[in-house]
Amino acid sequence: MEAIILLGAPGAGKGTAAERLVRRLGVRHVSSGDLLRNAVKEGTPAGREADGYMKQGKLVPDELIGRIITDLLVAGGPNLRVLLDGFPRTVGQAEMLEQVITAHHGRIRGVVLLNVPDAILIDRLAGRVVCPGCAKGYHVRNMPPKVVGVCDACGARLVQRKDDNPDTIRNRLAVFRADTEPLVDWYAARNLLIRVDASGEADAVNERIVAALN
Ligand code: AP5
Repeated sequence: MEAIILLGAPGAGKGTAAERLVRRLGVRHVSSGDLLRNAVKEGTPAGREADGYMKQGKLVPDELIGRIITDLLVAGGPNLRVLLDGFPRTVGQAEMLEQVITAHHGRIRGVVLLNVPDAILIDRLAGRVVCPGCAKGYHVRNMPPKVVGVCDACGARLVQRKDDNPDTIRNRLAVFRADTEPLVDWYAARNLLIRVDASGEADAVNERIVAALN
């Protein structure tokens, strides 16, 4: 079991980078946000519990998301190589991940911190549209679909995410500073942290990530 972790504020480009890195790095993309949004859509017990937190831009409880991710890692077996996008997001979650990785003799290859100034984060989130069918993300100006409002990959009509409104974006950024930023020091202390400037064009960001991991 090997994990690469993408760490970064809402809108830093974790999902966009992950989509491009999957084939390049030969890893499986595991997005905690996508897993939770699917659970909400399907109305599972986990989804019903998560929905209220997500609408407000709060983190769901560690136990809830921790169980989903660790079950998935264990089910993947010893040869699983994952790119974790959005998990861990608290020190408690990082401890859960460390426990499961240690128990299965795995390793964390690196923790990539995507650095982006706040003004760019807000612009990216405000202009994001996503596919409700296949979860592919776009930006109305930076990365538009070929046909306005329609997913290139599956043809579904694109929508704005419920948590991409100005109030919830503000909350999500505050939660990131308070609960997730402590992970920067936590992973730096374990010599796993790799800082990457993620403010430029997506292909250039990708090249920087790949170079930093080698
Ligand atoms: P989640 O879905 O993980 O959202 P997030 O972390 O807020 O991150 P985003 O998906 O908003 O941004 P991103 O970094 O992936 O950016 P993207 O690539 O889309 O979590 C949602 C919610 O679920 C949380 O608030 C919480 O409630 C819950 N949750 C999830 N995980 C949890 C956990 N571990 N613990 C507890 N709760 C959890 O890019 C954004 C936009 O910018 C797009 O429009 C894109 O096209 C554009 N863009 C990206 N890169 C570039 C670039 N280089 N240049 C120009 N535009 C770009």
